[in-house]
Amino acid sequence: MCGIMGYAGNRSVPRVLLSGLKRLEYRGYDSAGVAYFVDGRLEIQKAEGKLCNVEKLLHDKGFDHVQNENGGIGHTRWATHGRPTTQNAHPHKTGPIALVHNGIIENYQDIKCELLEKGHRPLSETDSELFGYLVLEEQKKGHSFVEAVRQSFLKVEGSCSVVLISEEEPGMIVGIRNGSPLVVALDPQGGVFFASDAQAIIEYTNEVAFVEMGDLVVGHQVDGRYQLDFYDSLTGTKLDRTTTKLNWSVESLDKQGYPHYMLKEIFEQPQSWIDTLNLLLDRAKQDPFPLAAQPSVELLRRAKQLQIIACGTSWHAALLGKYWIERWAKITVQVELASEFRYRDPVLSPDTLVIGISQSGETADTLGAIREMRSRGIPTLGICNVRGSSMAREADAALFTAAGPEVGVAATKTFTSQLLSLLVLAGALGCERKTLSLESGRELFDEVLRLPHFMDGYLHRSSQWLAQIDHVSKQVYRRKGFFFMGRGYSFPIALEGALKLKEIAYINAEGYAAGELKHGPIAMIDDEMVVVVLAPRDRWREKTISNLQEVKSRGACIIGIGNSDDQAFEEMSDFWIPLNVPKQIRPELFEALYPFLLVPAVQLLSYQVAVLRGTDVDQPRNLAKSVTVE
Ligand code: F6R
Repeated sequence: MCGIMGYAGNRSVPRVLLSGLKRLEYRGYDSAGVAYFVDGRLEIQKAEGKLCNVEKLLHDKGFDHVQNENGGIGHTRWATHGRPTTQNAHPHKTGPIALVHNGIIENYQDIKCELLEKGHRPLSETDSELFGYLVLEEQKKGHSFVEAVRQSFLKVEGSCSVVLISEEEPGMIVGIRNGSPLVVALDPQGGVFFASDAQAIIEYTNEVAFVEMGDLVVGHQVDGRYQLDFYDSLTGTKLDRTTTKLNWSVESLDKQGYPHYMLKEIFEQPQSWIDTLNLLLDRAKQDPFPLAAQPSVELLRRAKQLQIIACGTSWHAALLGKYWIERWAKITVQVELASEFRYRDPVLSPDTLVIGISQSGETADTLGAIREMRSRGIPTLGICNVRGSSMAREADAALFTAAGPEVGVAATKTFTSQLLSLLVLAGALGCERKTLSLESGRELFDEVLRLPHFMDGYLHRSSQWLAQIDHVSKQVYRRKGFFFMGRGYSFPIALEGALKLKEIAYINAEGYAAGELKHGPIAMIDDEMVVVVLAPRDRWREKTISNLQEVKSRGACIIGIGNSDDQAFEEMSDFWIPLNVPKQIRPELFEALYPFLLVPAVQLLSYQVAVLRGTDVDQPRNLAKSVTVE
C-alpha cells in the first residue's frame, strides 16, 4: 500500500522523509522516492525496489542532510497503474509542482484524453501524474496553488489522497483526501508533518489530526509560525478540526493504538493483501496474474484435480477457492475437513494434488493428512502464513501468504490473505489454460490490484462504515442467536461470520447456504433470532432475497449486508450494513471480489458484539492459535 510522508520545518527534510517512510515500510511497496528543495528548486530522487536505493541516491549526491524550511514530500509506491519502475515511482513533477498520491483515480482515462488534447505529455504510465497537469491547468485560469488543487480534485473520481508542494510556494504543503488515510501534525520544533499513518510521525509528536474524508489541508507559515488550515474540498469553506492525542504506551505501540490485536489485524488486511500479492506475483511481467516462478506453482500447473484439506477458517477459504478455481481454471476441486479426510479412505485419481491450507502450518489434522498423502506418494502442497512451519517443511512444496504475525486468536488477515492467494491462483491458471479469456483476466487482475487501496480507504478508523457497524452491534448484541446466510461466494463467508461470532462473542451462531434454511433450521426462527443476510449484487442476489423473505415473515430480525445503492434490500432489513463498491468495469467479474468487502463487515460485526458482551476478544476461552492436537 502506498505510503505518504511530507514535511516542512526546521529539521532536515530528507532525513525526516526517509525516517517516516521507513516506518511505513510495513505497508508493502515496490518503489520509492522523495522530492525536496535545493536552492529554491525541487530535486526528485526515486528508485525501484527498497527505500535504501533512494537513501543511497541522496547520499551519493550529498543531499541527505539538506536543511531548509522549504519542505518536501516522499512516497513508497505499490504499483496499480503502470509497472513498478523508477519512472512510475512518486513523486511526480509537473512544471513547478511535485505530488505523491495514494489510491486510485478511476476516471484517469477520460482525464488523460483531455490532457493529451491540450498538448500535455505525461512521462509515466500512472494515474497519479495526471493530477499535476490538472493543477497546472487550473493555475492557468488564475487560481492560487491551493485553489487549483481543490478545483482539480473536484474533477477526480475514485478514492484517494494527494499531497503536493510547489516551487512557487516554498514552505507550503497541501494535502487532500477522499479515500486513503492521511494524518497531519505540527512539529513542536516548528514545522508541519503529513503522513498516511500516524506511525510515521509518532517519534516527533503524539498530537495529530486525522484528515477527514473530503478535507483539504494546508500546512504553511503565517507570521513566522507554522499552522495547519483545513477546508471543505467541495466548497472551499474553512473548517475547524481538532487534534487527537495518541496515548501509545509500549504495549499499545504494538497494538498501534488499537484496543485489541484483532481490530488492528482487521485493519491490516489491505496491507497483508499487498504483501501477499508481492510474494506471489512477478510484477515485472505484463500478463495478468503473472505468477512468480516457484516449485509450488509447477506442482499446480501439473495437477489435473485438486483436493484441498483444512480446518476452521482455513476450510472456509478452501470452500471459496473451489468456486473461483472451478469457474476460471476449470479444474475439479474437492474440499474436505482435514479431520474427516485423514480418517477415511479417500480415493484419489492419478494427477491429484493435495493442498493443505493452514495459517499456522501446525494444525495437527491438516499436517497429519499431508504426511499420510506423502507416504502414499501423492504430491502435496502447503499454503501457510508461517515460514519454517511443519507443513511448509514437510509438504512437497509450500506457497506462503504474507499476512505477517497474527496475534489475535481469531483468524482475520490470514484468512483474507488465503482467499486472495486462491483467487490469484485461479486467475493465473485460468489465463494459462485459456479457460479465462485474456481480456477478462486482465480486467479482473486490475480490479485485484485496486482492491487493497479501496479497502484501505474503507477501513479507515474514522470511517462512517465503522460507526454504522457499531450502531448495528449495539442493537443486537443481547439477542439469543444468529444465523448468517448467503449463496455462492457469500456462503463460505456466512460460515466464517458465524464462526467468528461463536468464537469471540460466545453466541450461538450458524452459517447456512441461504437455500438450506427451509430444510430444517427455519424452525428455530422467532423474534429473538437475528439473521445476517449477505446478498451483494451478484448472480445469487435475487434468490437470497427470496430466502430473506422466508425468515423475515417468521419474525427474524434482519441485518442486511449489500450494495449501498440496493434500496429494496435495505428496506427489507431491520439493520443495514452498506457495501460501497468501486466503479466497476464489468459487474460479472467484480462479483468475485465481494467476499473481500463482506469479510471485514462480518469480522467487525463479531468484534463489536464481543466487545459489548465484554469477552476476551484476543484470547477467547478454550481456544489456541495453533491447534497442534487432534
Ligand atoms: C478461527 C480460527 C480457527 C483456525 C483453525 C485452523 O478464527 O482461527 O478456526 O482457522 O484452527 O487453523 P490453521 O489455519 O492454523 O490451520
